[in-house]
Amino acid sequence: MDTLELMKYRRSIRRYTDRQVPEEDLLKILEAGAYAPNAGGGQRSRFVACQDRMLNEAIGKLNIARFDRSHLVGGFVSKEQPSIIDDPTIRSGFYGAPTVITIFGPKSFLYSIPDAYCAAENMVIEATALGISSCILARGEETFSNPEGEKILCEWNIPDTMIARCFVILGYADGDYPMSKPRKEGRYMIVK
Ligand SMILES: Cc1cc2nc3c(=O)[nH]c(=O)nc-3n(C[C@H](O)[C@H](O)[C@H](O)COP(=O)(O)O)c2cc1C
Repeated sequence: MDTLELMKYRRSIRRYTDRQVPEEDLLKILEAGAYAPNAGGGQRSRFVACQDRMLNEAIGKLNIARFDRSHLVGGFVSKEQPSIIDDPTIRSGFYGAPTVITIFGPKSFLYSIPDAYCAAENMVIEATALGISSCILARGEETFSNPEGEKILCEWNIPDTMIARCFVILGYADGDYPMSKPRKEGRYMIVK
C-alpha cells in the first residue's frame, strides 16, 4: 500500500482481541514516534509503552473517570467502533487494548501538545503499516492528576517537569475492520 492508501485505510479501532502486540513491532512504532516532526527539533516528548493488562485497565478507567458526557448528548463518533461518547456502558477509555503508549511532554513548553500528537500520528501510521490497529486518545493530563495516577507516574520515574498529553492504544481489531468514512467536500483549496 502506498502512503496515501495507508492513511485512507487507517481507522480508530475500539474493539480488540486479546492478542498482544509483539515487542519487535512495538519498538518500530515507538521509533516512528521518535522520528515525528517536533518543534525546534528538541525531541522533547517521551513515551511509555505499557503491556501490563491490569495496569492498562486501571489507567483506562482513570482516563474516563472525570469525563463529562452530558454536553455531548446527540453527537456520535462511530457506529461500527463505538467510543465512550457513543456508549456510556464502556468502563475503560482504553477499550481493552493490550498495549497502551502514554506520550509525555514538558509541562512548560509551548508546543508540547502538538509535539505529542505529531508523535501519536506517526505511531498510528506505522502501526497500520504493520497490520496493527490503533486509536489516538486524549485526556492524558487528567488521567494522571489524581493520587492513583500520580503513584503510577512515580513508579514510571516520570519527572515532575513532564505531563501526559495523549495516548496511542494498539492491538488487533476484533471483528470487521471498518471502511473509511467519506470526506466532507470543500475542505481544501490551492492558491496560485
Ligand atoms: C486529538 C484527538 C483526540 C482523540 N481522542 C479520542 C478519545 O479520547 N477517545 C476515542 O475513542 N477516540 C479519540 N480520538 C479518535 C477520533 O475519535 C477519530 O480519529 C475520529 O472519530 C475519526 O475516525 P477515524 O480515526 O476512524 O478516521 C481522538 C483523535 C484525535 C486526533
